[in-house]
Amino acid sequence: MKKILLSGLKPTGRPHIGNYFGMMKQMVDMQDEYESFPFIPDYHALTSVQSAEDMQKDIVNVVIDFLAIGLDPEKVNLFKQSDVPQVTELMWIFNCITTMPYLMRAHAFKDAEAKNKDINVGVFSYPILMAADILIQDTDVVPVGKDQRQHVEMARDIAEKFNRIFGETFKLPESKILENVEVIPGTDGQKMSKSYGNTIGLFAEDEEIEKAVMGIPTDSKGVEESKDSEECNIFALHKLFSSEDELGDIKRRYVEGGMGYKESKDILIKNIKNFITPLREKRKEFADNKEFVLEILRKGGGVARQRAEEKMKEVRKKIGVELN
Ligand code: ADP
Ligand code: TRP
Repeated sequence: MKKILLSGLKPTGRPHIGNYFGMMKQMVDMQDEYESFPFIPDYHALTSVQSAEDMQKDIVNVVIDFLAIGLDPEKVNLFKQSDVPQVTELMWIFNCITTMPYLMRAHAFKDAEAKNKDINVGVFSYPILMAADILIQDTDVVPVGKDQRQHVEMARDIAEKFNRIFGETFKLPESKILENVEVIPGTDGQKMSKSYGNTIGLFAEDEEIEKAVMGIPTDSKGVEESKDSEECNIFALHKLFSSEDELGDIKRRYVEGGMGYKESKDILIKNIKNFITPLREKRKEFADNKEFVLEILRKGGGVARQRAEEKMKEVRKKIGVELN
């Protein structure tokens, strides 16, 4: 029996290279070894995306994005969260065993609240819905970027608590966070994120790549001055796109002097284009095939829903709402 792999990518706009290296690539790399459930958490996105048009468009887009980077719909169960209504049922049950002070410790909630006191209840209970996503499928491994570590830990805590109160029911999931890509920096050096406007799109056109890289801020050191590669936002991105030899060479020229930031940016642009061009081409192959996308979601949703219903039969019995 293969272990269960599950992770979600919200339909909240175009994915970026941080999403790719932090999570999407891992789903592709592990699709043979695990029984895989890449999915689209559309109800999570509803905390911020409140336009039917945008929601529909981005759900279809995320499926195409996943196909373009090499997820094989014959091997994985690609589905959308709203096709598994048992998840929201389980969320209510988890709501009732999770305390408010515990949820208030979530970093994502604290950040959101610091920015806007008027946040919706969905933002607050977000980790509970995520715990339901993970636990309802008996997930073993959850590949994510570092920003999601706490959410996966909360899913473990909720599983442990349920098991303690109602008896052994849920598996304890582990997050899988790859060390060298746990936080991909954006063009400004902060974590790359859709909400910071510092992204490089995973399927960006050449001009967008040029504009993003040219906009990376640097200090004012001249070409011949020695530079510290670890302090440089351009170099941080070279680490993702350069061969080891090329990276060593760039680093040496930073230290010795002789490489200006303009040249460094030109190399980065070339390498990012080499990386993105084939992905963009691949994406075009699927882009006009909405029927194919819908068929994949129907199939994946069927599998995910059936597993979820089996699990919920057990849960309903354990909590005593099933009368026999
Ligand atoms: P964003 O912060 O851009 O809204 P999401 O929250 O949609 O990204 O993240 C989707 C997945 O991509 C998650 O697993 C998350 O951990 C991962 N991820 C997002 N940004 C990064 C990053 N800069 N570095 C590594 N992983 C990331
Ligand atoms: N919270 C995740 C993010 O922002 C998305 C997500 C929802 C998820 N449910 C999940 C990720 C379950 C992994 C497992 O990226």
